[in-house]
Amino acid sequence: MRRPVLAANWKMNNGPTAAKTFMDAFLAGYKPRTDRTVIIFPPAVSLPTVAAATSGRSDVIAGIQNIHWAEKGAFTGEVSAPMAADAGARVVLVGHSERRHVFGETDAQCAKKCLAASRAKLAFMLCVGETIQQREAGETESLVTRQLREGLSQTPNLISVDFMLAYEPVWAIGTGLTASAGDASAIHTVLRSELSQMIGTRGDEIPILYGGSVNSTNAASLLGSPEVDGLLVGGASVEASSWLSIAGI
Ligand code: PGA
Repeated sequence: MRRPVLAANWKMNNGPTAAKTFMDAFLAGYKPRTDRTVIIFPPAVSLPTVAAATSGRSDVIAGIQNIHWAEKGAFTGEVSAPMAADAGARVVLVGHSERRHVFGETDAQCAKKCLAASRAKLAFMLCVGETIQQREAGETESLVTRQLREGLSQTPNLISVDFMLAYEPVWAIGTGLTASAGDASAIHTVLRSELSQMIGTRGDEIPILYGGSVNSTNAASLLGSPEVDGLLVGGASVEASSWLSIAGI
């Protein structure tokens, strides 16, 4: 059985001071649980704060929203996978739709980031998802399949690599629109079958999360849908009280 993963993507919210306040409130209310894993993806500057707060908790872990694929060098403003690991990250978000659509990240770059994360012994969560135009053109399945295959194409030995997928329809992110539970399940099923073609039964162990306007009202029904193994939550994860009500569903 895959253990549910509840992931908070704070995006560019909660600097170190707010992160500390959030973690104090969240951990006070969220008692240790063995039936799920919670991941917090803070902005990079807040990573040490979140990592320190979670150090006594194996059920709540820290991640990073983005990395550069090189280990070090002249890449002003970037953070490498080994540096993220050093700062306490255990997971890297790769190919989030804002990285792809606001910052022009390509599948080829995502592939290098997945490889860099695995080399640094970090898990990664590869995000895939279609725009509204791609959806209306009937391209969703072929697009997410391509994003999956290309994103994973550079990482050897996938069978023993720790990774997850997140299906996040671009049109559902931050818009208040969510995929129906049935639509999410349908795409998750496509991704699951692609994984099994790529890595056989190991594919059954890979969590596939849904993301896009998840909130405390729709979280339970989305998480209860077939093949939905977790939730990647943006806006509704920024405040501790809201995140508590989702992580604890
Ligand atoms: P949202 O963002 O929950 O605010 O739609 C989800 C995400 O971008 O990961």
